[in-house]
Amino acid sequence: MVEPAQYSLFDNECKKNVSSLLNEFAKELKNISGKCMDIGSGPGDITKEILLPFLDPNATMIGIDIMEKMVKYANETYGDGKRLKFEVLDIQTKSLPEKYISKFDHIFSFHTLQWCNDIR
Ligand SMILES: C[S@@+](CC[C@H](N)C(=O)[O-])C[C@H]1O[C@@H](n2cnc3c(N)ncnc32)[C@H](O)[C@@H]1O
Repeated sequence: MVEPAQYSLFDNECKKNVSSLLNEFAKELKNISGKCMDIGSGPGDITKEILLPFLDPNATMIGIDIMEKMVKYANETYGDGKRLKFEVLDIQTKSLPEKYISKFDHIFSFHTLQWCNDIR
């Protein structure tokens, strides 16, 4: 199983990809506020250090990941319980909990959807 801290140490390529993509849309992103989700947030480093700084300071973010270990590490290392927190969720679930339905203004996802068999 992937160790979150190790993943975080060796995800430089991912960080570069995400930074370069977000830079392309920097002007639009700074107006993004409200409740946001990052699907497949992994150890949380990219969510906290790269994605959040691009957004309006009032934007809040929930990072979700299927791996409990990633979510625990992300909450302990980057979560603040207010602007940024992380929760366990399988985005492919057939029964999405009520608290996630129509509750988000913006959804992001990096390097994750290719792991899903059922994108719909
Ligand atoms: C390659 S990592 C990407 C992490 C980070 N977003 C990045 O860009 O480096 C993919 C993450 O997606 C998560 N993941 C895979 N399938 C998922 C699913 N069905 N629901 C939620 N998360 C999932 C994995 O546990 C892993 O942490």
